[in-house]
Amino acid sequence: MKKPDNLILVIFGATGDLTSRKLIPAIYSLQKQDLLPERFELIGLGRTEITSDIFRQMMEEAIVNYSGEEVDSKENVQKFLANISYRKIAYDNQEDYRNLGTFISQRCSTLDIGNNLIFYMATPPSLYELIAGNLASAGLTKQDSGFRRLIIEKPFGYDLESGIKLNNTLHRLITEDQIYRIDHYLGKETVQNLLVTRFANGIFEPLWNRNYIHRVEITSAESIGVEDRGSYYDSSGALRDMVQNHLLQMVGLTAMEPPSSLDADAIRNEVLKVFQSFQPIKESEVPGQVIRGQYTGSRIRGEAVPGYRHEKNVNIHSRTETYVAMKFFINNWRWGGVPFYIRTGKRLPTRVTEIVIHFKPTPHHLFQRVVGNRSGNQLIIRIQPDEGILLKFDMKEPGAGFNVKNVNMDFHYKDLADVRVPSAYERLLFDVMEGDSTLFSRDDEVEMAWKFVEPVQRAWKNNPEIKIYGYPAGTWGPEISNSLIEGDGLSWRYPCKNLADEELYCEL
Ligand SMILES: NC(=O)c1ccc[n+]([C@@H]2O[C@H](COP(=O)([O-])OP(=O)(O)OC[C@H]3O[C@@H](n4cnc5c(N)ncnc54)[C@H](OP(=O)(O)O)[C@@H]3O)[C@@H](O)[C@H]2O)c1
Repeated sequence: MKKPDNLILVIFGATGDLTSRKLIPAIYSLQKQDLLPERFELIGLGRTEITSDIFRQMMEEAIVNYSGEEVDSKENVQKFLANISYRKIAYDNQEDYRNLGTFISQRCSTLDIGNNLIFYMATPPSLYELIAGNLASAGLTKQDSGFRRLIIEKPFGYDLESGIKLNNTLHRLITEDQIYRIDHYLGKETVQNLLVTRFANGIFEPLWNRNYIHRVEITSAESIGVEDRGSYYDSSGALRDMVQNHLLQMVGLTAMEPPSSLDADAIRNEVLKVFQSFQPIKESEVPGQVIRGQYTGSRIRGEAVPGYRHEKNVNIHSRTETYVAMKFFINNWRWGGVPFYIRTGKRLPTRVTEIVIHFKPTPHHLFQRVVGNRSGNQLIIRIQPDEGILLKFDMKEPGAGFNVKNVNMDFHYKDLADVRVPSAYERLLFDVMEGDSTLFSRDDEVEMAWKFVEPVQRAWKNNPEIKIYGYPAGTWGPEISNSLIEGDGLSWRYPCKNLADEELYCEL
């Protein structure tokens, strides 16, 4: 792969968690693979008063603690750190931005680095508009002599109105093609592999429609709770944090029509069309189509686990959902009548993200099935962990008669020798450097996704009587979510068993 053009990467909020856990390990990994530009500088910015030396020490620790792979020789790490510096900034002080501009110009000419700049907003989202405005006022977003790109992290707004406002503000300052909205799920190998699985193989696409598919199920489960992000999470909840972005993007890639090319807009246009075809959920339909839950205290493998309301920085009376399951339809020729079921939650029994395509049963049942007359055919795309694809189908059990047994054809990425699965941030940062926005959410996609979840937000806000169901930490969420799935005895797929003691009290 060719190296990107020389550039400077400026990270706002560089003293934070995201920079240490994700960004620095990803950039370091790009250096190890010789994929950073020939000349590259990283400038960290924050309100914290620290020297560049201290910042470099923090980044060295980040590499050791979070890169998850063997750290290079000391010499190579030092070479990497030598291109990193830190500056204190008050995010609302225009003078600081002018000084930053002068500093960047000096670095560009000293290093003969050209004038390409990437600004990464690793700050709380409430600062995005302020920082972008001040960068523009200081002339730092004008693309006269090099590119100027701005990366922002979700959440892209809080609801439809604030999502549109954020887009409008940014568009007054910079053009859409300068904005890279990170949805780190799109950086995952297996999410991208969905496109290859669907459009590189002739065997799946003919079946990928309402004639052969009974339902589609997407799960993104986390086993951890809110950890130290209680304050952020309590004002967000699972619908905003996971459904509006990651889960709907996965629905988009699963349901989209074949794009005419691999061009960024060709793919994003098709995802947008899926979002535009969502059958709107009316406010009155929310209780029947969307289940919300909140984890309660339990004991997992003998250890007491606090309920959500007892987590640090969470309101003791909080009605924030830590679990959402919903059912909806896509009104187009491919998917008319096929239910889509999506669910996500914290403190579920395991960490897993998977897309399950349930195929229809055969029209006539010749054989005695252990599972009755249901289809034994599922295609399971495992996004994380243990990335891979599993096809379930029925086989004859050896011996007398024609007893049918459901078996697995299972591909694991890890079985490919010498193949390293890059981290999502590695792929996405490289793409920004290359100017490829295929794996980033576009303004209209984000707004359509907000529009879809808006009635749910409204219903929950306006009707406090809509129940929030408790579920003991370590279980698969409120049992009532099974009622969403239509069909005799059908339920969600459970990749593993509940972990918690089921007898624990879970009424909210
Ligand atoms: N951490 C993750 O894994 C993750 C995952 C997905 C999305 N995100 C998103 O990425 C962004 C950064 O995440 P993060 O976890 O690194 O955030 P963070 O640690 O809370 O904040 C990053 C930095 O922003 C500055 N900051 C924090 N609160 C501030 C405030 N009230 N006013 C001004 N500056 C403040 C601080 O630096 P100074 O005090 O030095 O200025 C802090 O070190 C957020 O938008 C988050 O939603 C993070």
